Amino acid sequence: MSLDLATSLSDLAADASAGLKEQFGCDASVVAAAPGRVNLIGEHIDYCDGFVMPFAIDRYIVMAAALNGTGQARVATALGGEPAILELNVPQQVGTPKWANYLRGVFQGFQDRGHHLPGFDAFIISSVPGGAGLSSSAALECCMATLLEGLVDTVLDTKEKALLCQKAEHDFASVPCGIMDQFASAFGKPNRLVLIDCMTGEPEMVPFENPDLTVLIANTMVHHELSDGGYAARRKNTEEGLAAIGKKSWRDATAADVESRWTSMGDPVNRRSRHVVGEIARTIAAAEALAKNDFEALGPLMAASHDSLRDDFEVSCKELDLMVEIARAIGRSGGVIGARMTGGGFGGSTVTLCESRKAEAIAATMAEKYKEATGITPQIFASRPSLGAHLM
Ligand code: GLA
Repeated sequence: MSLDLATSLSDLAADASAGLKEQFGCDASVVAAAPGRVNLIGEHIDYCDGFVMPFAIDRYIVMAAALNGTGQARVATALGGEPAILELNVPQQVGTPKWANYLRGVFQGFQDRGHHLPGFDAFIISSVPGGAGLSSSAALECCMATLLEGLVDTVLDTKEKALLCQKAEHDFASVPCGIMDQFASAFGKPNRLVLIDCMTGEPEMVPFENPDLTVLIANTMVHHELSDGGYAARRKNTEEGLAAIGKKSWRDATAADVESRWTSMGDPVNRRSRHVVGEIARTIAAAEALAKNDFEALGPLMAASHDSLRDDFEVSCKELDLMVEIARAIGRSGGVIGARMTGGGFGGSTVTLCESRKAEAIAATMAEKYKEATGITPQIFASRPSLGAHLM
């Protein structure tokens, strides 16, 4: 068995409640869950008015909580260590422990909306692999926001909640991310992809329920630092590219716009720009191909996306390239439809779309060949589109 199985949400909730009881001696009154995400295609274009096509995976962060009658949040995690003690209803500031900054950012978002936050104790448990490009940070933010909805008895509009969480990431983790991760975690639905038009900020729920199709996620288990600076640098490159083209939005830019300014833009802005224009076109084409079950078209689009991220956008790494190469070598005859890196890159995971009846064998080959070449045992699992952030 090479496929890593997901812990059920009810087991995670029971474990989180047991953790709360053990750590703080109280019974949970509110339990919230929020998933990570995988992106099928449309990478590094959510901050370029592009289209992206992620879905919420069945790996969750779950928080169990109870009011504690103080002005503080006391938050413990299954990873151990001292609980974080966080002052509520004061201007939030970046601090330690570092992971709590995501929570501070969400507290600030609620405080900005005029909410008075009641003191609470919480216990956090996660089945979203961390540092794997599967948006564990967005899951943490969306889970905290959902827990607060339960604690203050309010319901935020889903889009507003996702944007509040994105702002938390910008202001408290200094990552100038786009909207994909928080939208996927907040809007996710079983059997639906979250196709997001990042220009209008509107998600469209696209059916993805063919049982013959399986999405394999392969965590390379490597995470290269540089990621944060690398992400911001890429985003800046795309802003320079758009300014050179002189249009208001990447949606109005064409491949010809980039070609005709190739020399004046210079390297790497020209290559970054070629990625953006190409990836927007590929994502639109992929959505059309999926709607028609046209897998012969989908595979090459995923391949072109990976190559562009590797060569033009330079956010891949040798481990991601290797994992994708292994899947590609298995090929259509072995049941692989397409493979590419997923998420921000610089390590993390790949996504492989394949035939369900061959998924086990494909995962086994990927794990074996990757281990042979790197000495690292990857974590490979199948995931279907799942329910987004919710109170349990
Ligand atoms: C990270 C960011 C997203 C998106 C991806 C790349 O996950 O948080 O907003 O830009 O990288 O597609």
